[in-house]
Amino acid sequence: MDPVTSSRITVTVNGEEIEYAVDARRLLVHFLRDDLDLTGTHVGCDTGNCGACTVVYNGVLAKSCMLLAIQADGASIETVEGLSSDGQLTQLQQAFSDHHALQCGYCTPGMLMSATALLRDNSAPTEEQIRKAIQGNICRCTGYVNIVEAIKAAAK
Ligand code: FES
Ligand code: FES
Repeated sequence: MDPVTSSRITVTVNGEEIEYAVDARRLLVHFLRDDLDLTGTHVGCDTGNCGACTVVYNGVLAKSCMLLAIQADGASIETVEGLSSDGQLTQLQQAFSDHHALQCGYCTPGMLMSATALLRDNSAPTEEQIRKAIQGNICRCTGYVNIVEAIKAAAK
């Protein structure tokens, strides 16, 4: 890394404060995946369209391919790795499993983050609200029906 173009950032990721020197051009998604080894956050398009890289950033959803790591200085980020604790799936993760809401699983981390943010804001969403909440997440396999059913079940 070029010391001239690198900056030291401090970020909180899944509750843990981390200090790191990042290249000025490093995307947040690559910082999470390649520097922090949090490979649950996926890269599908690198253009902000697919939602595979979705994380919760300072409490709101963000596509981590659309942010530079240096922009995250001082931020609090939640990734899919932070959802479960002590090896226990969250209700939402369990509902995805129970309702066969994934096939290849590539979209799943982003879907889980979008659905988690939705359920924090609205514990009883309508189907329309669920579909709106995941409209930034593309799934090429499932046709969305089982994903919507899983989110409905988790809300109950
Ligand atoms: S990789 Fe970020 S939106 Fe597709
Ligand atoms: S499960 Fe394959 S892209 Fe959604």
